[in-house]
Amino acid sequence: MAIIVFPAEMKSGEKRCALLPINVKAYKLLGADVLIEAGLGQHINISDEQFVEAGAKVVANRSELLQQGDIVLSLHKLSAQDVNEIKSDALIVSYLDPFNEPGFVDTLCAKGVTSISMEMIPRISRCQKMDALSSQASLAGYVMVMQAVNTLPSVLPMMMTPAGTLKPAKVFIIGAGVAGLQAIATAKRLGASVTAFDTRTVVAEQVRSLGGKFLDIDLGQTGETGQGYAQALTPEQMAIQQREQAKCIADSDIVITTAQLFGRKPPVLIDTQTIALMRPGSVIVDMAAESGGNVQGSVSGETVSIHGVNIIGTGAWANGVAKHASQMYASNLYNLISEFWSKDDNLFALDIEDEVQSGCIITYQGKVVNTMISDFYDSQKQQSNKNGVA
Ligand code: NAI
Repeated sequence: MAIIVFPAEMKSGEKRCALLPINVKAYKLLGADVLIEAGLGQHINISDEQFVEAGAKVVANRSELLQQGDIVLSLHKLSAQDVNEIKSDALIVSYLDPFNEPGFVDTLCAKGVTSISMEMIPRISRCQKMDALSSQASLAGYVMVMQAVNTLPSVLPMMMTPAGTLKPAKVFIIGAGVAGLQAIATAKRLGASVTAFDTRTVVAEQVRSLGGKFLDIDLGQTGETGQGYAQALTPEQMAIQQREQAKCIADSDIVITTAQLFGRKPPVLIDTQTIALMRPGSVIVDMAAESGGNVQGSVSGETVSIHGVNIIGTGAWANGVAKHASQMYASNLYNLISEFWSKDDNLFALDIEDEVQSGCIITYQGKVVNTMISDFYDSQKQQSNKNGVA
């Protein structure tokens, strides 16, 4: 019988986990045995006993757990020491951040394990149920609005009271992808007046359908990749965007930046001069603070004040609603595993030629088999060779 193991998350401050009791039952129905590390669900108030009731076995020792797994499922990547413990023919699935973690990918190759990166699940209809980037980003959009609301010294909705009328707060969302659209919907529900901008003009209609206004900025040719991700802007286009959005930023009570470029550093969209135009007490939430930041001066994991404006860079946004985030991530994982489960052989049927698997398998039999990642590593090597020569 295939054994699926779930090690506890070791990342500091992480509350989410990759399994809920309801998923244990589903994995068991596939025909797998489920082993969890003791304390897996402790931060979302799920006890080991609840997992046991659902059919899982609890292993207290992490090494013992990892050594038994045919499949190792987690949220964050394992440590190099963990990789050392697992079977060399095991399959591991988690966030792997392969663009930024070539050293870890080397460790996976050296061990010979097959690894799937949850960030690399292709963005096609068939995979929406497995798309953890989207499920977590959607919750992040909600959490960012909540954090902004808690920091703003005023209310979001218009209030007509005997003591006078309060105007609705103005919220500006930059980047109307998965997180941005959820932030728009949340801020609208709370009664704010919402404006949004995205370089992918196709989303203007989606913004309007949520009741937001779309800020029209003529950047010329922008476009998106086949997977729906934005293309990087030229420096000239960046300058136009920053100039044209400055008035809207100055006029806003809350600005939420969600602009990302898949596999690259996020663009810096708001500089300190623009922050100085905002009213003191206003709030900016920088979704990308952990990975470089959309906002000059934002600090990962902190809220800082620049010209009296509070810049929230907390990060780990989905962690703020850890129970629902775990539920969604665990179900993304289960949907991936069950999609390719062979009941006859009682295992995950690996097929590196498959449209979905070829997109998200990073290492297989000691090699990086994902062409997007291997091409990226090659280009990085060429670049550093060039720089070395220069
Ligand atoms: P993301 O997290 O990479 O980027 C967030 C947003 O930032 C994007 O909308 C992007 O256009 C925007 N952006 C980038 N540079 C910007 C700039 N300089 N100024 C303003 N905005 C900027 O992308 P996300 O949110 O994960 O997905 C983007 C799109 O992908 C979605 O809106 C959707 O259309 C598509 N998608 C398709 C799925 C599918 O299964 N077919 C699943 C999930 C998303």
